[in-house]
Amino acid sequence: MVREIRITPSILNADFTKLDSEIAKISSVSDLIHLDVMDNVFVPNFTFDFAQASNIIRNCPIPVDAHLMVADVDEIAIAYAEIGCASVSIHVEATKDIAATIKGIKSHGARASLALKPGTDIEDYSDYVNDVDMFLIMTVEPGFGGQKFMEDMMQKVRKTRTLIGNRPIWLQIDGGVSLETIEIACAAGADTFVAGSAVFKAEDPALMVSKLREVAQNSVI
Ligand code: DX5
Ligand code: ZN
Repeated sequence: MVREIRITPSILNADFTKLDSEIAKISSVSDLIHLDVMDNVFVPNFTFDFAQASNIIRNCPIPVDAHLMVADVDEIAIAYAEIGCASVSIHVEATKDIAATIKGIKSHGARASLALKPGTDIEDYSDYVNDVDMFLIMTVEPGFGGQKFMEDMMQKVRKTRTLIGNRPIWLQIDGGVSLETIEIACAAGADTFVAGSAVFKAEDPALMVSKLREVAQNSVI
C-alpha cells in the first residue's frame, strides 16, 4: 500500500509578532499548518486563547491542524471544528467523553484526532480506531518546542500502525522531528509529521519542509 506523507509545520517556534509572514514562508509546500494551543493548565505553557487562535485559523491560507493541549477539552474542541479547522486533536488525558467529542468534531466536517502523551498506552484507546481520522503520538512531553525526539516511542508508533491496518487513518508524530529523526519515525509507520524548530530555525524554512518530505518519502517501508 502506498503511504502518503504529510508535513504539518508547527508555528510554535515561529515569530508570533509576524505570524502571517511566517506562515507565508511555508504555506505553498506544507499540507497543513499545525497550531499548538496551550492553556498553562494541561501543559506548563500558554500560546493562544480561543479568540487569538480563531483569528489565525480564519486568516490561514492553508488548512489548520489544531493540537489542543488544554484541560477539559470536550466543548472547546467542537468549537475549534466549528470555526473551520481541518483537523482537531484532543488529548485522551484531557477529555471526559472521548466518543461524544470525536462525534462533535466530525459533525462540523473536521477530522477528529486522538493525541497521546508519551506515558499513555495506545492499547487503552484501541477501540477508537473505528471512530478517529488520525492518531497523534507525542515524541516529546507536550508543552515546548525544541526538545529531544523520544526514540523509545517508536514501539508505540509501530503498534499504532498495526492497529490502523488498512484504514485511511493518519498517523502523526509530534516533537523533535528533524532530517535524522523523520527517517526513524517513518520507518516505524508514521505518515504525518509535525516539525517546529527544524523548520522555523532553518535558514530556508520552505526548503526544509521539502527536504523533510523527501527523506520521509524515501523511508517508507
Ligand atoms: C509540543 C508541540 C509541538 C512542538 C514541536 O508540545 O506540540 O508541536 O511545536 O516542536 P519541535 O518540532 O521543535 O519539537
Ligand atoms: Zn503539537
